[in-house]
Amino acid sequence: MKNYSSFIFLLLILQHIYANKIIYGLEEEVKRSDFPIGFLFGTSTSAYQIEGAYIEDGRSLSNWDIFTHTNGSIRNGANGDIADDHYHRYLEDVDIMASLGVNAYRFSISWSRILPRGKSGQVNPAGIKFYNNVIDNLLLKGITPFVTIHHNDYPQEFEDRFGAWLSPLMQEEFVHFAATCFKNFGNKVKYWATINEPNLYSELAYMNGLFPPVHCSPPFGNCSSGNSDTEPLLAVHNSILAHAKAVKIYREHFQVEQGGMIGMVASAYMYKPITNDEVDKKAAIRALTFRVAWLLDPLVHGDYPIEMQHYLGKDLPRFSFEEKLLIKNSTDFIGLNHYSTLLVQDCLYSNCACMHDNNPTCTHGENRAISGFLLTAGQNKYGAFIGEEMGMAGLYVVPQGMEDIVDYIKKRYNNLPIFVTENGYASNENQEGENDLDKDIYRVKFHKSYLASLARSIRNGADVRGYFIWSFMDNFEWKFGYTIKYGLYQVDPLTLGRSPKLSAHWYRDFLTNTSFNNIQITSSI
Ligand code: NOJ
Repeated sequence: MKNYSSFIFLLLILQHIYANKIIYGLEEEVKRSDFPIGFLFGTSTSAYQIEGAYIEDGRSLSNWDIFTHTNGSIRNGANGDIADDHYHRYLEDVDIMASLGVNAYRFSISWSRILPRGKSGQVNPAGIKFYNNVIDNLLLKGITPFVTIHHNDYPQEFEDRFGAWLSPLMQEEFVHFAATCFKNFGNKVKYWATINEPNLYSELAYMNGLFPPVHCSPPFGNCSSGNSDTEPLLAVHNSILAHAKAVKIYREHFQVEQGGMIGMVASAYMYKPITNDEVDKKAAIRALTFRVAWLLDPLVHGDYPIEMQHYLGKDLPRFSFEEKLLIKNSTDFIGLNHYSTLLVQDCLYSNCACMHDNNPTCTHGENRAISGFLLTAGQNKYGAFIGEEMGMAGLYVVPQGMEDIVDYIKKRYNNLPIFVTENGYASNENQEGENDLDKDIYRVKFHKSYLASLARSIRNGADVRGYFIWSFMDNFEWKFGYTIKYGLYQVDPLTLGRSPKLSAHWYRDFLTNTSFNNIQITSSI
């Protein structure tokens, strides 16, 4: 009898393991206990992508309102007028997050909602009240708010009056915005990210003309104005100075009393050579320099990387002596948005056939001739794919990239604290239907394997303090409207009801350490 029950017990265990593998994939196991105590596990969103309520309670029109209302800008003519209606449903959303078991939530503040006219107008009390409500309810549920001050959207007025990020006036506007946030929310917010990935936004907006204000010049595209070689560099330059000035104010007037941390969020893809040739290996290192260190070197070391200064010459703006002092060590942590690894081909010594044309194998449009490299699609010169393609062309699942990019940042920036402020799987409409929420097994596998990779970097000494899944729920994915999805929760386009996908169940189980999702077990036994 004893042997029989041991046998049944063993069988149940095997069945449990088997079901676990079927449902969640065969990847390396990862547990919450692989991460340090106090580690922040959360989800991430941004204001324009979820809030809606675009003309309510005194909010002014933003650059994205104007852009999305211009014919042909966004797939299927979509916009963020209603988005996920988070503005009216934040209580429900905070409850859902609490049930998920996260201990942190990263969101951004709509600039137009709290300062509809920027520095030249008043603070909008309704906007302040909204974010205070969100923050209070998060805290009530034990969820730490992690606030991005600026994430892509700003009052359109800045564009019309002085050209937004192309002007130093934007620095002063940003400092005023940031100080308004510190003043009004700083006693409750302990984590501030100043600006979300200016290193990617500037290229999409000022090099490829895909984001507002739609600037570019040939051969990158035919926009009505712009200079693809210089404007992205100028926009990032102003963002760095805006960040550093806001940090100075925070440190001098708020930080000691409020006790928080402040940092910058960088877009941080990993880059690998397309062949084993030395020139391609060097090009991959150059890609890291030109796309990641471009933003982060100034904030930690006080200037742009030498290679950029060398290759870009006069096109690269310079920091004055005083500015170098201001920007150096101006970040308490580094926020990384990491999604994929891209292959890099050298163009200095070899001929990049698709440089500057519309060849579809040249993804991400990073064809800046002067930097001498080209980002290509996911297949290397020997025919091997770098990883499985996600539901969005040009993005590949390469879990090892997480450990590699964290390692790069750790070494280059003296092991400053790191938060993975975004990591997520892009699926498209064919991968997800209305009634098959369990189909996002891809997303479960993605997060498991990327977390396992992150855990390895922590074991190797990286000071990583948090991980935020992009995104809490499906939302307005910029150019792609609502056709590309990253959410753990699906949002019904008509009722706006939220429904958990398989990945939400998985995240909850991972976070709460319940070894399994009961519903799934019973159905498979
Ligand atoms: C980075 C951006 O911060 C976010 O707004 C965007 O939705 C995700 N990447 C996915 O593309």
